[in-house]
Amino acid sequence: MQISDGVAVITVDHPPVNAISQAVRQGIMDAVSAANADERARRILICCAGRTFMAGADVSEFGRPSLEPDLPDVVAVIEASDKPVVAAIHGQALGGGLEIALGCHYRIAVNGSRLGLPEVKLGLVPGAGGTQRLPRLVGAEKALDMITSGAPVDTDDALKLGLIDQVTDGDLLDTAINYANCIPSVVPEDRRVSRRLTDNLPPALFDSWRKSKAKGQRGVQSVQACIDAVEAACTMPFEAGRRLEREMFLALRQSKQARALQHIFFAERQASRVIGLEEAEARPVKSVAVIGAGTMGTGIAMAFAHSGFEVTLLELSAEALASGIDRIRSLNAKSVQRGRMSEYQSEAMQGRICTTNDYNALGNMDMVVEAVFEDIEVKAKVFQQLQAVCKQDTIIASNTSYLDMNRLAETVARPENVIGMHFFSPANVMKLVEVVKTDYVSPDVILTVMKLLKTLGKTGVVSGVCHGFIGNRMYQCYQREAGLLLLEGASPAQVDQALYQFGMAMGPFAVADMSGIDIGYLMRRTLTAAQYDERAFRVHDRLVESGRKGQKTGAGFYRYEDGAGAGQDDTQVLELIEQVAQELGIERRSISNDEIVERCMLGLVNEGAHILEEGIATSAADIDVVFVNGYGFPRHLGGPMYYAESKGLDLVAEKIHCLAGSQGSRWWTLAQAFEQAAKRGAWA
Ligand code: COA
Repeated sequence: MQISDGVAVITVDHPPVNAISQAVRQGIMDAVSAANADERARRILICCAGRTFMAGADVSEFGRPSLEPDLPDVVAVIEASDKPVVAAIHGQALGGGLEIALGCHYRIAVNGSRLGLPEVKLGLVPGAGGTQRLPRLVGAEKALDMITSGAPVDTDDALKLGLIDQVTDGDLLDTAINYANCIPSVVPEDRRVSRRLTDNLPPALFDSWRKSKAKGQRGVQSVQACIDAVEAACTMPFEAGRRLEREMFLALRQSKQARALQHIFFAERQASRVIGLEEAEARPVKSVAVIGAGTMGTGIAMAFAHSGFEVTLLELSAEALASGIDRIRSLNAKSVQRGRMSEYQSEAMQGRICTTNDYNALGNMDMVVEAVFEDIEVKAKVFQQLQAVCKQDTIIASNTSYLDMNRLAETVARPENVIGMHFFSPANVMKLVEVVKTDYVSPDVILTVMKLLKTLGKTGVVSGVCHGFIGNRMYQCYQREAGLLLLEGASPAQVDQALYQFGMAMGPFAVADMSGIDIGYLMRRTLTAAQYDERAFRVHDRLVESGRKGQKTGAGFYRYEDGAGAGQDDTQVLELIEQVAQELGIERRSISNDEIVERCMLGLVNEGAHILEEGIATSAADIDVVFVNGYGFPRHLGGPMYYAESKGLDLVAEKIHCLAGSQGSRWWTLAQAFEQAAKRGAWA
């Protein structure tokens, strides 16, 4: 603590993000008491060194017994301070960081800072008075929105809501000290937020939030607990509400969901730290081109433009280019309509995308992403044209979902510049990108792409080269089990329902209908019989061959009246399934939902273990990141590998042995990595 101009300045300095560890809690508590006792100080300021204000409780302490002082006590000491306390915020005030700021009597923030209570995303309720103070400051409905979504607000919104008192573009410390010297020397009663009254909202309003969140954030316990806690803020005295909140926080902290969500939190950060790039230096990327104005190409161009990059979109046919631009315009118009983007942002974003049909326009590009048809010959031709015009060090990325990136890299003179980037559709929305590392790629290129993805707000996971990389290779095993279960007696609706109830965003047949069954059909034409179980996909193939390609043709596994909406069961499909089962001599039986979930999960995890053993994925946690961010796997179950670990790897391995016994070992060989992990009880 330092005294400056009559203000005791308490600076938290705990890199990298000033997470509120025990030492930080103790430090703040002691410093506030010392400042109150120091006659030189008339006001107190709490600020942070480094890149951000406190970004929350120290998540790494969650698995351990709690250490005093508890955060609620620290916040209570701040709020009870006789001398006025000002929070000076920069970067992010998240979770416990915002709770500390809410305990302060005044809050000032640097323009562009973000404030929020993201605990729900970690399976928790805010545990240091956040659910009780925020409604008293910004109103119960806005607090419900912020706490149940976990989404932060920016300084413009925070000022409008009364969450902060002033925004500054100047030097935070100077401005905050001046500000502190202008506030009353005695704390007005309503500046102690816990003393304020809350809104009197009707119970029906909380029930409607519960219902809507039960749909939107299906199965996540912490969301419902957050609503209960805010309701308590509206119906109970502060102290009773705060005690209830703390009880919920402590109970949830032990929950399986919280542990799974925290696993994914750290896994996502670990995925971005690629081993072996310590000596690498990222290349500057200022100019970017995207080849191909189809669905993927336009989505990728939008992702770049949205993050401020100038993008050149190349397409040889004027018609295809025009329809790509139309697609971008109409997607932007929808975003404006839904309030996700302003008219101005939409115009500015479109203005950053220019078009060309001439490869010579790409001479100065730092990076080119090709997103043409998924065919190695077609892509190789594009690569030839690119190497004829691009600079020596232009990064050439291929958006591919299963092709052999080593073969593609071999088609150019500088394979070290070539990398795979498997974007997920819609590429402007989906966070996951598999970064496919060839045998030739330079570490600088991998580092550049991983950094770039962070700038784009994407989650990059490095994958080795194999058919389908991490995600699609595993997903095919999941689809295989789903396909076999149809033949053995389930219906598409039963399989989809069982997996939806488990927590998947959609069942596999609904997904197939949505993305087009013909995509997998065409991909399977490139496989040999040894590479997949033809039986499991025979129904898919027959559907495509009869013109039923999914939603786009009005029929696939389901029938779509008027071409869209939820699909209806179709007796023709059920008959087809029975007919194929008969052809294959598969006897149909009654199948339970538990068996459906178990078989599909075992299919995923068994292949995941092979992928680990072959070094295609660096860690089981990377695989989890892929499935949670790209395949609709429920985040609160932590990803397929974590899910298996939480069930007990020895038990899971035993079940795979049993399946090998009943179905043959062709698809059910246990990887050695699995055997070893089962003995350890953990993947790593
Ligand atoms: N506790 C412990 N460590 C934390 C942390 C927390 N609350 N928040 C971030 N970290 C660590 C990360 O694990 C990472 O560590 P690493 O460098 O060893 O991988 C490091 O801080 C930087 O985090 P990162 O997310 O890579 O930086 P960023 O600049 O992209 O984002 C934040 C910064 C603060 C926005 C982001 O880290 C975040 O959202 N943190 C969680 C906030 C939260 O949920 N708080 C409530 C906790 S109950």
